[in-house]
Parts: sequence; C-alpha cells; structure tokens
Amino acid sequence: MTEEHLPATAGQPPTPEAIMQLGMGYWASKTLLSAVELGVFTVLAEAPDLDGDALREKLGLHARSATDFFDALVALGMLEREDGRYRNTQDTELFLDRAKPTYVGGMLEMSNARLYGFWGSLTEGLQTGEVQNEAKGGGEDFFAAIYADQDRLAQFAGAMTAISAGAGQAIAAAFPWGDYKTVIDIGCAEGALPVQIALAHDHISGGGFDLPPLEPVFDAHVARFGLGDRLRFTGGDFFADPLPEADVLVMGHILHDWGLDEKRLLLKKAYDALPDGGALIVYDAIIDDDRRGNAFGLLMSLNMLIETTGGFDYTGADCCGWMQEAGFRDTRVEHLGGPDSMVVGIK
Ligand SMILES: C[S@@+](CC[C@H](N)C(=O)[O-])C[C@H]1O[C@@H](n2cnc3c(N)ncnc32)[C@H](O)[C@@H]1O
Repeated sequence: MTEEHLPATAGQPPTPEAIMQLGMGYWASKTLLSAVELGVFTVLAEAPDLDGDALREKLGLHARSATDFFDALVALGMLEREDGRYRNTQDTELFLDRAKPTYVGGMLEMSNARLYGFWGSLTEGLQTGEVQNEAKGGGEDFFAAIYADQDRLAQFAGAMTAISAGAGQAIAAAFPWGDYKTVIDIGCAEGALPVQIALAHDHISGGGFDLPPLEPVFDAHVARFGLGDRLRFTGGDFFADPLPEADVLVMGHILHDWGLDEKRLLLKKAYDALPDGGALIVYDAIIDDDRRGNAFGLLMSLNMLIETTGGFDYTGADCCGWMQEAGFRDTRVEHLGGPDSMVVGIK
C-alpha cells in the first residue's frame, strides 16, 4: 500500500485489530451465554473461591476445556481468579446470579436458546426480508409459537423483564407521576414496568394488558413484589380490542415489533383510550435521528428482521411524527440510559 492510500488516523498506521475483534466477537459472546446457561455465576455466588476442579465438577463439565473456559471468562472480565480459585466479579455477582432479584440473565438465556441460532441466518434474512425464527417458512406467528410452550413463554417473559426493569426504574424517576393516578402497560409481559412505577410511587395503580397466556406470569411477578392489590392484568388483543383506559399508557418494545401501518394503528388506539391531558410513553432502544450513534438500536432493528414479519426500530423524530399524526399535541424524546429512550406524547 502506498502512503497516499493510508488513512491518517492520528499519525498511527492503520491496524485490522478493531475489525478482527468485531468479526470474532461471537466467540466471546457465546462463551458468556454458555456460562449463563450452565449457571457458572449462580454456582460461584453460592460457593465463591472454588478451585477449577471443584467448579468443573459442580457444573458437570468435561475436563478437556474447562480451565480454558474459566480462564477465558477471567480474561473477558466476567470472573476473577486468585491462587487458582474463581469468584464472580462485582457485576456478575449482582447481575448474573439467578437467585438474586437483580438478575438480568433472562435476556441472555433467551439469546442463547433462540437468537444465537436464528442470527446464523441473518444473511438470508437480509436477502429475502423474511423472518428467521420459529415462524420461518410460514410457520405460526411469533407470539403464538412462543406461547404454545410454557417453558418458552416463561423464558421470553423473563427476558422482557431483564431488558425492561432498568428502563422502568428510569421512567419511574424521569416522568412526572405526581400529575397522574393510573397507568396501564400495553403489551406488559410479566409487568416489569408497572412494578417499577408502583414501587416508586405509592399513589399509582393500574396494571398491564397483554395476550391472555401472559396472565399467570404477570400475576406471579406482581405478587413477588407484594403489589397484587394495585396492579391487575387485563387480557386482550391490542389489534382486535379497544385499549384499556388510564391516565398514562405505556408501550415498551411494542412498536418495533410491527410494520408502519400497525405502529400507526396502535398509536391511534392509545390516543383514543387516553383522557385529555393523558400521556402515552413509548420506550425502545430508540435510534438517534442521525442513525449513526445508537448501534444497539440499529442492531435491535435487525433483530426485528430475524424475529418479526414487518417490525423495525425507529428514531425519536419518526415516533414524534407518528404521534402527531395520531393527534398528540405535545411530543418529546428523553434519554433513559444506555441505548434506551422514551417518547412522551400528551393528548
Ligand atoms: C417485545 S414484548 C415487550 C414486553 C414488555 N412491554 C417489555 O418491554 O418488556 C411484546 C409484548 O407484546 C405482546 N403482544 C403481542 N401481540 C399482542 C396483541 N395482539 N395484543 C396484546 N399484546 C400483544 C406480547 O405478548 C409481548 O408481551
């Protein structure tokens, strides 16, 4: 390569390191996903400072690669090792021990069990525009396929809680709940969002609306927090039925599941169900308006290609525009943390 072909990166010669790291990133990703599947962090939370043999035996692993597996997790910053004994890091102890309420591994469990394999046909999805999950080849609709099996239903609902509990806490803190009395989370899954709002605001009641099979997991999750007297489940289909009425309606990870016509229909139905002055909160990994900053939001949109027939993620400007078309008079976008933002529309 001649000198004029070299990009001027702060006087340093270019290296392929970042390219290779990204390209081979699935090695690290799958190592973590298998560790979550095997319960490495839960075992070490119960019995910290196990040596390699004891840890291997507890996990039922073959001797051949166990040490490489544990030490790779050390090198990836997911375990600590001292004098040959392994323990969780501060983060994995808090977030990847299944026994703790702070566990976020639900999303990783679902990624491991379902998405990891389905993403293997991303190229085909990009070429055909066709869904690549259980519904591939004209099978059942995504939610029908998942909910036909109780274990998959529970795994999916747990994954939703893992990706939504943090956003729920941020929305509990950022939104002026003092001005409102009732909230219904539309497409609530286990109800992670209303639980966080109700925990933070004693005066708020309401609940969640979702397809009927979600009722038992919603009730169990709400009961875990002792909120059964304030949060109730309403079963229904948000396309076929009117939406329940409340001062505030929330749609988290709902709009991105659907094509533009369905997105517009859901926003219109939310508008119709709200009183004057009521609010709709939409939250997702909302893409920055310039579509170059929020990589997670853009990858989430590719995940919608894998998972749905017409879904896609969208920018804050897109969502404000659709809300205004539905009739909302004020709209605003607020960043919540990490890749997540909310769009608020006031009727
Ligand atoms: C991606 S999940 C989001 C769950 C939750 N809002 C969250 O962010 O954690 C989408 C939810 O929409 C629900 N859903 C899908 N189709 C529905 C329909 N036609 N009527 C009501 N809910 C539906 C699903 O059951 C699921 O709980």
